[in-house]
Amino acid sequence: MPRVYIKTFGCQMNEYDSGKMRAQLAPAGFVPTDDVDDADLVIVNTCSIRDKPEQKLHSFLGRILPQKKVRPLTVAVAGCVAQMDGGKIFKKYPTLDLVFGPDAVGRVREMVETARTRRVLDTEFFGTDGYPFSSDLDPDATGKVGSFVTIAKGCDNRCTFCIVPTTRGDEASRPADQILAEVEGLVGQGVREITLIGQNVNSYGLKVPGMPTFAQLLREVHAIAGVEVIRYTTSHPRDMGDDVVACYADLPKLASHLHLPVQSGSDRVLRRMKRFYTRARYLEVIEKLRAARPEMNFTTDFIIGFPGEQDVDFEDTMTLMDAVRFEGSFSFKFSPRPGTPALRLMDEAVPDGVAQARLQRLQDRQRDLQIEAHAALVDQTLRVLVEGPSAHDEGVVCGRTSTFKMVNFPGDPALSGQWVDVKVTRAFANTLRGEVVGGELVAP
Ligand code: SAH
Ligand code: SF4
Ligand code: F3S
Repeated sequence: MPRVYIKTFGCQMNEYDSGKMRAQLAPAGFVPTDDVDDADLVIVNTCSIRDKPEQKLHSFLGRILPQKKVRPLTVAVAGCVAQMDGGKIFKKYPTLDLVFGPDAVGRVREMVETARTRRVLDTEFFGTDGYPFSSDLDPDATGKVGSFVTIAKGCDNRCTFCIVPTTRGDEASRPADQILAEVEGLVGQGVREITLIGQNVNSYGLKVPGMPTFAQLLREVHAIAGVEVIRYTTSHPRDMGDDVVACYADLPKLASHLHLPVQSGSDRVLRRMKRFYTRARYLEVIEKLRAARPEMNFTTDFIIGFPGEQDVDFEDTMTLMDAVRFEGSFSFKFSPRPGTPALRLMDEAVPDGVAQARLQRLQDRQRDLQIEAHAALVDQTLRVLVEGPSAHDEGVVCGRTSTFKMVNFPGDPALSGQWVDVKVTRAFANTLRGEVVGGELVAP
């Protein structure tokens, strides 16, 4: 049996696409392997959101391509860097067999077949009408408690810092019947937690007459028996409508956690980023969601040192952090991306040392907020959906609360997919430690 090793960088879209590739390759006999040295086909699924993830492709190829000299091996570059720079990569690495973008994922089997006789470069975008979303299920999803399901591809926003519209193309919403069928298929395999994914899930269906809205879609997924928890990512604050807020009052399976990227707390910076919401509007969304669901936990993304960001702008970001009391965030220094509108602002670039100092202050405050929030959970009993054995400790399992808190506790991996009541005994910055209360299982 030939073996395929897929190295995935980047976001949920890439993870999901890697799953689709595993599914596509299975009928051709390819079995997934975790050992790159054991693989007959190596696919690196790349990310170009910032310079650093992009560089990872080159170090990866530097390690893997020399192996082609000593054994039969097919090497492919997929994902966002391939889409952005496919032609260049194809030229730079003449021993590379395949280069293809995200829209070609559904053709991976044919392309691998073709690559037996000639090199393949495929960075065509499909049109958005009738975009062929793949319906194959990831063989690796079997036995997992949670799974992603894509609801839209691409992005029609043009945030000035962002490369995604270039690498993923225009937005296309996936027909609801396909989404629901995929959710049902996954639930049939034992999946309990569904995360709906897209670059801007809130704009789902809006551009196609007759399609349900995102809020309607949430209600339809909620109605599927066997789904225990529904999450989604990513939301754009501008598009968080009252219909979605209402779902938090009505749909108990909808998780009490939202990742809502804010990027900056300064209206001036938000304007220059073309995010089309203000700090006040963002806080209003948070307030409405807390009114609908008081236990809501929020996480976010920040970009620090966007061109022109002044001390006062950064202070606005710091005060926003405290106003929301985020319990987690991804924060990175602004990284200029090829062809993005923000490049025109580079004469106001923030010196790296200044950006680094701001980032450190933000991350320190974030850590304190997490520690405070988690300390308050000690001695509380939380309902946890068990995911499986902990990666680090034998005899310990892990799971998540609806609020997305990771809890580790002594337990049997056979509890996977079940709800248990866990009393928190210790709090850390990123996780909680606990013990099952009375050892009793709780009916979902
Ligand atoms: N669609 C999502 C975000 C996708 S990109 C949204 O609109 O929120 C994920 C995150 O990467 C962004 O939220 C942003 O914080 C970060 N990011 C994107 N481009 C970046 C850049 N050029 N430099 C630094 N961070 C960036
Ligand atoms: Fe990028 Fe903005 Fe689209 Fe998110 S909404 S993917 S940040 S352009
Ligand atoms: Fe990276 Fe592409 Fe996702 S650039 S963040 S893998 S959409």
